[in-house]
Amino acid sequence: MSAFAYRDGELCAEGRTLDSIAREFGTPCYVYSRAALETGFREFLAGCSGRDALVCYAVKANSNLAVLDVFARLGAGFDIVSEGELARVIKADGDPKKTLFSGVGKTETEMRRAIAAGIRCFNIESAAELDRLDAVARSMNTRAPVSFRVNPDVDAKTHPYISTGLRDNKFGIAHEDALPLYRRAATLPGIRIAGIDCHIGSQLTETGPFVEALDRVLALIDALAVEGIAIEHLDLGGGLGIRYRDEVPPSIGDYLATLFKRLGSRKLSVMFEPGRVLVGNAGLLLTKIEYLKPGEAKNFAIVDAAMNDLMRPALYDAWHDILPVRQRAGESHAWEIVGPVCESGDFLGHDRPLAVQAGDLLAIMSAGAYGMSMSSNYNTRPRAAEVMVDGDSVHLVREREHIEALFSGERRLPA
Ligand code: LLP
Repeated sequence: MSAFAYRDGELCAEGRTLDSIAREFGTPCYVYSRAALETGFREFLAGCSGRDALVCYAVKANSNLAVLDVFARLGAGFDIVSEGELARVIKADGDPKKTLFSGVGKTETEMRRAIAAGIRCFNIESAAELDRLDAVARSMNTRAPVSFRVNPDVDAKTHPYISTGLRDNKFGIAHEDALPLYRRAATLPGIRIAGIDCHIGSQLTETGPFVEALDRVLALIDALAVEGIAIEHLDLGGGLGIRYRDEVPPSIGDYLATLFKRLGSRKLSVMFEPGRVLVGNAGLLLTKIEYLKPGEAKNFAIVDAAMNDLMRPALYDAWHDILPVRQRAGESHAWEIVGPVCESGDFLGHDRPLAVQAGDLLAIMSAGAYGMSMSSNYNTRPRAAEVMVDGDSVHLVREREHIEALFSGERRLPA
C-alpha cells in the first residue's frame, strides 16, 4: 500500500489527512512518510543481503535531518558532496566511517574536514583533485582513502541535465586515463587506493546502461589487478529512477539482482549511492489554491507553492502528478497549475484535468527527492515547512522560514 492514499475521498499520509496537516502547519508544506522512507531503504538492504555491501544515501536528494535520521537508524551510509552535507550527516548521528565524498570541486577546507571526520572514501574526479588531496593528507600526516570516479561513456538515456556518464560531461575520469592515474596514485604518500566508482546519471528507468557501465568498470578492475593494484570496493553510484507518471523502472530488488548477478563471485565490497529512489515517492508538496483565473486560452489555478519551492518542472520540464486533497463531485476542467512567482516558467503542471475551487488543497506528488533540497528564496519567499508523518503522528521537521531571517545576514550601506 502506498503511504499516500485516499480514504473516504480524502487524501491521507499514513494515518493523517492532508487537510489536517495543512490546518496545523499551513501551506506550502512538504509532507514525508516515515514508513515509505523505511520501506525503500529496507528493500535496498534486503536486495544486498548475503553480500558485502553498503548503501550510502545520496544526501543531496533530500537533506532534512529527520530524513537522514531515519536512514542512519537503519544503518545507512551517506554520499555527500559538500562540507555542509557532512555537517548534516554528523548532526543526524550518521556514521562518517560509512560516508563517501563525491563531487568535482572539493575545496581544501572540505578535504581537511572530511579527513578529520574520518570519512570512508573520497570519490576523486580529476588528476588535479588527486594532487590536492595528497597534499592535504600529507599535511595532516595521514593517507586519504580514494576511489576514482570513472566515466564509462555510456548513455544513461535520461534527461541531458541529469545524465553524467557520457564523455562530454564534466564528470569523472575518462576510461583511458584511469589506469595511468591509479598508477600515479599508488606512488603518492598521502593517498591510499580504496576503490573505484561510477555514476552515470539519474532517473534511469532501465537496467541496461547500469550493466554496461558495470562491465566497463570490471574490465578496469581486472586491468588494475594485473598491475598489482588491488581495489577493495566498487561503488556503483545512484541513479535508479522512480515512477512519476507512467515510467516503469525496475524495482530496487530487480536492479540489485541484475547487478549482483553480473558481479558473480568477485570478492569486492559493493557500495551504492541511491537518492531519488529512496525518497522521491515518500514525499509530496501540499499547496493551496489561492485564485482561479479561467481564461479564453487557458485556465490558471494560482497556488501558494511556486518554482522556488519545487524547481523540477521549471528546470527540467518534469511532470509531477497533482491530486486534489478532497475529491469533489462535478465537472473537471483543464488547469494550468502555476505559482505566484513573476516568471512564465513558474508552473507546477500543465493542462491538468481537475474539479477544483479556490481554497482547495492540492498535493504535488513525488516531490520527496530534489524538491526542498533544490528550493530557493527567489521573490523573497520563505521556504516551506517540512513535516514527517509517522503513523498517526506528524512531526514538524523544518519550520517555515521567517521573512526577517531571509535578510538577517544582509547589511545596508554605512550612513
Ligand atoms: N551519486 C552521485 C555522484 C550523484 O551525482 C547523484 C545525483 C547521486 C549519487 C544520486 O542519484 P539518484 O539516485 O538520486 O538518481 N536534480 C535532479 C537530479 C540530479 C542528480 C544529481 N546527482 C532532478 O531533480 O531530477
